[in-house]
Amino acid sequence: MTTQQYFPHVNGKMFAENVALSDIAKQVSTPFYCYSNSAISQNYKDYQQAFSTALAGQETLICYAVKANGNQAVLSTLAKLGSGADVVSMGGEILRARAAGIPANKIVYSGVAKIEAEIEYALNEGIFQFNVESEPELELISQVATRLNKVAAIAFRINPDVCANTHAKISTGKSENKFGVPISKARLAYNRAASLPNIKVQGVDVHIGSQLTQLAPFEEAYKRIAQLIVDLRSDGHDIKVVDIGGGLGITYHDEIIPSKEEYAAIAKTQLGHLNCKIVIEPGRSLLGNSGILVSSVVYVKTGEERQFLILDVGMNDLIRPSMYDAFHEIIAVDKTKTEIKTYDIVGPVCETGDTFAKARQIHESKTGDLIAIMSCGAYGAVMSSTYNTRMLAPEIMVKDTEFAVVRPRPKL
Ligand code: LLP
Repeated sequence: MTTQQYFPHVNGKMFAENVALSDIAKQVSTPFYCYSNSAISQNYKDYQQAFSTALAGQETLICYAVKANGNQAVLSTLAKLGSGADVVSMGGEILRARAAGIPANKIVYSGVAKIEAEIEYALNEGIFQFNVESEPELELISQVATRLNKVAAIAFRINPDVCANTHAKISTGKSENKFGVPISKARLAYNRAASLPNIKVQGVDVHIGSQLTQLAPFEEAYKRIAQLIVDLRSDGHDIKVVDIGGGLGITYHDEIIPSKEEYAAIAKTQLGHLNCKIVIEPGRSLLGNSGILVSSVVYVKTGEERQFLILDVGMNDLIRPSMYDAFHEIIAVDKTKTEIKTYDIVGPVCETGDTFAKARQIHESKTGDLIAIMSCGAYGAVMSSTYNTRMLAPEIMVKDTEFAVVRPRPKL
């Protein structure tokens, strides 16, 4: 799926599904995030189809990684399709997932610093599994579960020491990363878990990073996890669940991404014979290309050597370019003018890093023209801030010919 399918240009004017972006801009004003309900649903169904086909006869569960986009309308769209949730905070993500109708028994709880109140909340909700990141965290879970007279079902997140070939800031499966229990210490950790009160060892979890564009790192990680599961079973642990972490990367520019079928085939080949329930936690690949950020040109400024297109969105609205040097396609909403110009496309924030693109070619633009920044549905709005005391951009969900404001612009 590419963004353009759900955000097409028709007669030179850009739409979200069947709604003209200029109509939304007239009603809500810019900037705004805009999500395609059909894109989100289709992406989810594609995962479901790929995994249920490759792993036919085996239980599979898609736990959407809420951190990618925790908008309530997004969550309820996925909840209605049967999605579970991968969450990393109590007051935020568990609450939002539950409010959207995701049952507790489809929630896995990840995150390196779960605090006592969060563990208590998750136990009271009756979540499916804690993905435990360290032995001290395991001890605390056992203490809280004992106090509440509940049993905590756990998997350890294993750090398999595999290079994900992605940006260093979103690579999580190397031994120098803060995540998970080193695979070399896993058997000891599981033995310790089995000896603690009110802990039920049920699974193994792994997540090696995000925006993966190749299958080989997944394959290597799953191979190591499969061997670990064999070892753990021989140590007497009843491993019934394997959580294989986040999903595939997406095309932001010219990346060629393996298909969901190929990804599912890797899971089947490496882990299928173990007869575990397979959990997958995709975020970016469900939401990334399902959303865009729409802004207006405030000024066109001619510098000494370059022209700047100064937008009404900044790094506070979309931090990915300044944080990860991420590429996002930037498109004129109205392409009826044919001249193409080269601009540095920047925001209003008082930092040089508030730059979305340098020397980018785009249709000639003037003050007031609408500009779409593509592939912003994941890790866009959720990572925004009010830096420079700028107001958060509202979020819009489009479905066919209708749109709704699913998070309003805050009032001053
Ligand atoms: N599971 C766990 C435990 C995770 O930490 C993540 C993402 C996912 C699943 C979802 O991974 P995905 O399917 O989205 O690749 N802010 C960064 C991305 C950070 C990813 C953090 N973890 C960005 O904008 O690129």
